[in-house]
Amino acid sequence: MEKEIKKVFEEKFGGEGTLYASAGRINLIGEHTDYNEGYVFPGAIDKVIMADIRPNGTDKVRVFSIDINEYVEFGLNEEDAPSESWARYIFGVCREIIKRGGVVKGFDAVFAGNVPLGAGLSSSAALESCFAFALNDLFNDNKIEKFELALIGQSTEHNYCGVNCGIMDQFASVMGQKGKLMRLDCRDLQYEYFPFNPEDYELVLVDSRVKHELKDSPYNKRRESCERVAKELGLPSLREATFEMLDGIKDKISEEDYKRARFVIGEKQRVLDVCDALVKGDYETVGEKMYETHNGLSKDYEVSCVELDFLNDVAKECGVTGSRIMGGGFGGCTINLVKKDLRDQFVEKAIKAFNEKYGHEPKIYDVIISDGARKL
Ligand code: GLA
Repeated sequence: MEKEIKKVFEEKFGGEGTLYASAGRINLIGEHTDYNEGYVFPGAIDKVIMADIRPNGTDKVRVFSIDINEYVEFGLNEEDAPSESWARYIFGVCREIIKRGGVVKGFDAVFAGNVPLGAGLSSSAALESCFAFALNDLFNDNKIEKFELALIGQSTEHNYCGVNCGIMDQFASVMGQKGKLMRLDCRDLQYEYFPFNPEDYELVLVDSRVKHELKDSPYNKRRESCERVAKELGLPSLREATFEMLDGIKDKISEEDYKRARFVIGEKQRVLDVCDALVKGDYETVGEKMYETHNGLSKDYEVSCVELDFLNDVAKECGVTGSRIMGGGFGGCTINLVKKDLRDQFVEKAIKAFNEKYGHEPKIYDVIISDGARKL
């Protein structure tokens, strides 16, 4: 990928820039908890967005996307926002840096990636954090704190892409480190790294290829449900909520809102339980909690779909240690914690059974926990 990007940069702009990369992410557990001020437990993966970037001495940004085969040019003022959705991520990052008092000048860029799109692996966060990291390095002497770069990505989603997301994806993509998962407390933004190099297990993603796009999905609606319940409880978020408190207001809220909040309250504790289990090397408990999360995401939070429920059942039948839908939902992947010696058998079975039922094969990604945003 590196060579191809350099070659295209030379063709489009002449010479070469500086290469930067950032990663997609997985989340072991802690779904839809970030915007509820709960905990998440993600890590960056070995699937990246890579960009070659060079200041061009003008006030224009000129970018070419190799994968989409599209060239876009825009200025740095608010009214210059491009209409191409991929370019809005880059424009948003520029604007958010400027809004915070940072510097962005014109630049040329060529980028490509191997983070699967719409699979729930946060390709958009990888794109945002790659450019945020690069622009911090090129124009701001790296004075913007790394965590701030994640917030810049998140604000880009809110203000330019129509997704009212939490901080998890951008955080993971910026802060990720090889061989480590991170538990982030989304209330005070404190985080802790946990080594994750299980000898006997692997993480395997099974992509249903049901397209997932959070914009215009009920993602924002889920968030509104949680906010309504928190308000009814007189709390700033569901972080402090307990099952007892929720039962106390059951007749004041809709059944739907009740179920959404029930999932979030349970999920908050599951993240802590998984971290404890991981430290003890107790992968069986980690796996059990993953299945519980799937169940909650499917029945209470209702962000799964038949294809993903099917993949979860196949995993269970094969004896996979843990499996669940991952990310925002409404399509995308399951994440599976599987014993190494079971991996091939499981993958074969999942492909065959899924194909028989839905007429297309799922995609398989073996993932390794890797570094997040960086200069190459
Ligand atoms: C998407 C959002 C994240 C998070 C997850 C669900 O990936 O971008 O902020 O809310 O969904 O856990």
